[in-house]
Amino acid sequence: MDGLDGGVEPQFSTHMIWEKIRMISSLDWNEVWKERMARSIESSGGRDCVGHWSNEGEASNYGRMLEGDDLQSVALFRDSMALSSPFTVLDIGAGTGRLAVPFSRMASRVTAVEPSAQMLEILNEQVKRHKIENIDCIKKRWEDIEIPADLPEKYDLVVASFSLGFPDLREAVSKMIAASSRYICLMWFAGEPSWNADYRKISSALFGDSDHQTMPNSDVIFNVLYQMGIYPNIRVFNFEMLHRFGSLDEAADYFAEKFSALSSTQRSVLEEVLPQILEERSGQWILPYRASNMMFWWEKG
Ligand SMILES: C[S@@+](CC[C@H](N)C(=O)[O-])C[C@H]1O[C@@H](n2cnc3c(N)ncnc32)[C@H](O)[C@@H]1O
Repeated sequence: MDGLDGGVEPQFSTHMIWEKIRMISSLDWNEVWKERMARSIESSGGRDCVGHWSNEGEASNYGRMLEGDDLQSVALFRDSMALSSPFTVLDIGAGTGRLAVPFSRMASRVTAVEPSAQMLEILNEQVKRHKIENIDCIKKRWEDIEIPADLPEKYDLVVASFSLGFPDLREAVSKMIAASSRYICLMWFAGEPSWNADYRKISSALFGDSDHQTMPNSDVIFNVLYQMGIYPNIRVFNFEMLHRFGSLDEAADYFAEKFSALSSTQRSVLEEVLPQILEERSGQWILPYRASNMMFWWEKG
């Protein structure tokens, strides 16, 4: 019946299709988000999104990859929303300040919520270097923020961009709505980002088949929002960032640490597999990170 072993085409009766439709219609998509997020954390050895970014090497590499991206990063907001000065921005999971820094030049005030000390350190360096006076930082996870104790005022724009390490999406979005006086925006991956396939290849070379579970994607976000009665504007966009290594050896060091692959046999495996994934350009070894993404945004009703 399943067409896998016997080559027989799957046969679904109208009744079976209707049963599946009924099942999908009664799904609580926030439970799908919670379950997929929990499985993804479990298959990463208990390390969640914040854990991943609480690492000096990852934080400084992220900052380096974004150098020069300044104006492009806020163009999507300027094109989509009526953000006329003075306006205020709450940037949740602000990271190294990809949005917070350029927004600080357009907005009267930006609040950056960021739990990773390593990401926050780079954001603070930028604040100092550019003599920015209108960014405040709160070192907390979004789930631990209390309104109004932590955020006594509302913001014209509340955004969470590639920072949706939220165990419960519905709860996180409800709090974003509570913190906003006008716009709410989420940005996340649509489809499979290029690095998932690359990491799978490395992991299966090292350990055989990988059972790594990825985080939920934009399809789940759309359904959670829809079930909350939110029908967002959606904009699709792509990005490419380049992770540059000075040598193949440097790349092998990075992946040895990332995959806890520290034996000499594993080192040889990395040296064999990495040239199949990285691109050599003028003496550097480059891993491109490419992704299709969705920006969900709406005005508070
Ligand atoms: C890929 S970076 C994105 C940074 C920035 N928003 C951007 O668009 O470039 C992800 C950031 O989200 C933060 N993050 C993940 N889960 C979070 C949570 N539950 N609450 C607050 N921040 C979170 C991480 O600490 C990390 O700094």
